[in-house]
Amino acid sequence: MNVLIIGANGNIGKLTSVMLAEQGHSVKAMVRKEEQQDHFQHENIKAVLGDLEKDFEHVFEGIETVIFTAGSGGHTGPEKTEAVDYEGAVKSIKLSEKHGIKQFIMVSSLAADTPEEGPESLQHYLKAKGSADEILMRSSLNYTILRPGALTDEDGMGLINAKQKLNEHGSIPRADVARTIAICLGNEHVYKKVFELIEGEVPIQTAIESL
Ligand SMILES: NC(=O)c1ccc[n+]([C@@H]2O[C@H](COP(=O)([O-])OP(=O)(O)OC[C@H]3O[C@@H](n4cnc5c(N)ncnc54)[C@H](OP(=O)(O)O)[C@@H]3O)[C@@H](O)[C@H]2O)c1
Repeated sequence: MNVLIIGANGNIGKLTSVMLAEQGHSVKAMVRKEEQQDHFQHENIKAVLGDLEKDFEHVFEGIETVIFTAGSGGHTGPEKTEAVDYEGAVKSIKLSEKHGIKQFIMVSSLAADTPEEGPESLQHYLKAKGSADEILMRSSLNYTILRPGALTDEDGMGLINAKQKLNEHGSIPRADVARTIAICLGNEHVYKKVFELIEGEVPIQTAIESL
């Protein structure tokens, strides 16, 4: 599968790029700076320059699936959240429709559908994520929206709890989010599905099959 990863230089982006390349997929890793290209030395990964705040249509050439795991990060203000997490995502959705992308996998966030219930400092971010998700759900694309809880850098056990609505909070290792993305890739069972995920007791494959 020819996969574009938007946000490839991020924590989940790097883990996912290598995991998919190891599985034999052809990965195009979109990064913002030339020096970030050096990280991607695998024969199945091609790093390309692209910025969500500029024109990045060139990266869609030859792509079948898009994974969006970019984010402005906690250290930036609301303008960057709007420009990257919302507008950048919407531009990626529109370009995916234009280029006939088969599946769009979005890394969203737990509580993106209920921002008013989140901590005040996160409400703007959650609103941006939720609004982008809504546009994706209204698009013509086969979307798969992952809404992970708080991300950690633990290794991950490959065990999660995943449901459309979990009604509980929790954390999840980034490695297990990457594993979940890999299992969702090309999997028609998760087309047009949105689900929350935190670490849990169920093997990822089983959790995804039971959605
Ligand atoms: N933190 C949490 O607890 C949490 C919980 C749920 C969901 N999430 C979401 O999970 C996703 C991935 O998390 P993560 O830890 O992997 O994030 P991360 O390490 O901060 O990675 C985000 C990536 O987005 C890239 N990016 C930022 N602005 C961009 C732009 N204008 N154009 C292109 N790329 C741009 C960054 O590029 P640079 O490397 O150049 O800066 C970075 O590589 C994010 O969408 C985040 O919102 C986070």
